[in-house]
Amino acid sequence: MATEILAIHGDITKLDVDVIVNAANSSLLGGGGVDGAIHRAAGRLLVDECRLLGGCKIGQAKLTKGYNLLANYIVHTVGPVWQGGYQQEVEQLTSCYENSLQLAVERQCKSIAFPCISTGIYKYPKDKAAEVAVKTVKHFLLNDETLKCVIFCCFSQEDYRIYQKLLTQ
Ligand code: AR6
Repeated sequence: MATEILAIHGDITKLDVDVIVNAANSSLLGGGGVDGAIHRAAGRLLVDECRLLGGCKIGQAKLTKGYNLLANYIVHTVGPVWQGGYQQEVEQLTSCYENSLQLAVERQCKSIAFPCISTGIYKYPKDKAAEVAVKTVKHFLLNDETLKCVIFCCFSQEDYRIYQKLLTQ
């Protein structure tokens, strides 16, 4: 069966999937945006586990339990800050998606939801980031049989439109 790839408009903390991805910072100790929302929804035990992880480099990913979320796991990844596109931002954002998918598959997850990594506080252009996200997921799925559903969870209508267009091309 082919893996379903879809965009939804909504709040990632509410999704009933095996794993949600967090757009974290390198401390992994919480922040604003989706990171703040995930920490609030998961509860205070999340930061205790995060403290044991020793931070995370840009493009890398680390996994924790989901605590009070419906999701069993959270993959925390650190996207690049947009600096005009000349500082390996494409490669780093690609690594975020690849490493997150890899961790999910290692835990036998069948469903995963991504936020639009780096496109908020880190200012990566939304359309460029979406292209990287969709291309990387599709490429990864060519060699994977574990995942059955990949969701791009768009918090804004604008992001939702961008993903809908890319996914129906
Ligand atoms: N569900 C889904 N998406 C959301 C939610 C939500 N509940 N809340 C926000 N978004 P950002 P970044 C979207 O800024 O650019 C944090 O402080 C948001 O609309 O959360 O990678 C970290 O600690 C945007 O489309 O992450 C880092 O310091 C997307 O999530 C820094 O921000 C990403 O926006 C990371 O910046």
